[in-house]
Amino acid sequence: MHLTKEEEKILNGEKGEVMERLFRLLVRLGDIYDAKKMIPVGSVQVAGVSYKSIGDPGTEFLEDIAFKGARVKVLTYLNPAGMDLEDWKKYGFPADFAKNQLRIMDAFKKMGIVVTSTCTPYLAGNLPRFREHIAWSESSAVSFSNSVIGARTNREGGPSALAAAICGVTANYGLHLWERRQPTIKVNVKVDLNFNSDFGALGWYIGKQVKNKIPYFTGIKNANTDQLKALGAAMAASGAVALYHVEDITPEADLVNTKGLESISIGKSEIKETYNLLSTGKTPDIVIFGCPHASLREISTLADKLDGKKLKRPVWICTSRMVKEAAERMGFNEIITKAGGSIIADTCMVVSPIENMGYKTTGVNSGKAANYLPGFCKQEVCFANIDDLVEGQL
Ligand code: F3S
Repeated sequence: MHLTKEEEKILNGEKGEVMERLFRLLVRLGDIYDAKKMIPVGSVQVAGVSYKSIGDPGTEFLEDIAFKGARVKVLTYLNPAGMDLEDWKKYGFPADFAKNQLRIMDAFKKMGIVVTSTCTPYLAGNLPRFREHIAWSESSAVSFSNSVIGARTNREGGPSALAAAICGVTANYGLHLWERRQPTIKVNVKVDLNFNSDFGALGWYIGKQVKNKIPYFTGIKNANTDQLKALGAAMAASGAVALYHVEDITPEADLVNTKGLESISIGKSEIKETYNLLSTGKTPDIVIFGCPHASLREISTLADKLDGKKLKRPVWICTSRMVKEAAERMGFNEIITKAGGSIIADTCMVVSPIENMGYKTTGVNSGKAANYLPGFCKQEVCFANIDDLVEGQL
């Protein structure tokens, strides 16, 4: 790979030990994937933030590089942490867990990273532009930025995203290249999709079928950004889809080549089958919305449904701190809290330790959450649409 003089200096250790170590990682990745050069990135999103995911070794690594002077060069956001960073006590997150989580956040802050923990950075102030090169790591954020915004990122690991943040560049391969963004399979959707969970079910089913291919959807009549984020998140979870196109809806759909593609179809029965497959439990002892993190529109919808009601069991809606603040201003937080629900910021049902908080069966409307909750959080899952989930808690 061609390196500039400046990059050679980093590799030779002239910019310090930490830079050298992290840059070496980027060069190695570039060599593996046959990149010709490094390219500057406009922003970064780093995964591997929850103490539950990275434990003591990850925490010590972050503290070590922060102490040695690692500082980010570009706008960098974080994936959800393991708890609400402000109200963790109120929501019952364990104190020893909180202590370690706060150490992690301190290390990130020292590096100059915006300590806003969210998988929807594009709703919270980190919005890339069309064709901008970025290095993001959370799979649903990667899918959304590639597919719905038309920015360009590979699915980075936590360390390679951190390396890109600190070096300000990434290797130019994979989804950074136009020729690698072409669809590789056509998906004909022959069913009407109404709820966000329908998009999650579609995504989960297709992810299983196509693995890491690039689907080109036809037949989706309309979809808002919440529905597209649900679709992409589920496909990235059950498969490894990092980019998809939707005819007449996503920005690159008109530009890519769809000639001669193999095609599959999906109808009502596959969607129904997916709802059944993902539902392993009977009655949820908690319902959690907001995977990926909820938008203001999703919170407003939930507030409408809970207005004047009383919940029998806990209902959470997970979101970013910024969206929660907007929800507070709009009075949505008050309505939801009065009904007995909570808007939880900075974390989510998968990366927080809900299995240690007494919950065994979780209700979700997210295909991605339904995919991970059994393995990551030892939960039975009730996968349903928002109306059925809310109805069941009243
Ligand atoms: Fe986000 Fe957690 Fe879902 S990180 S995409 S809310 S599993």
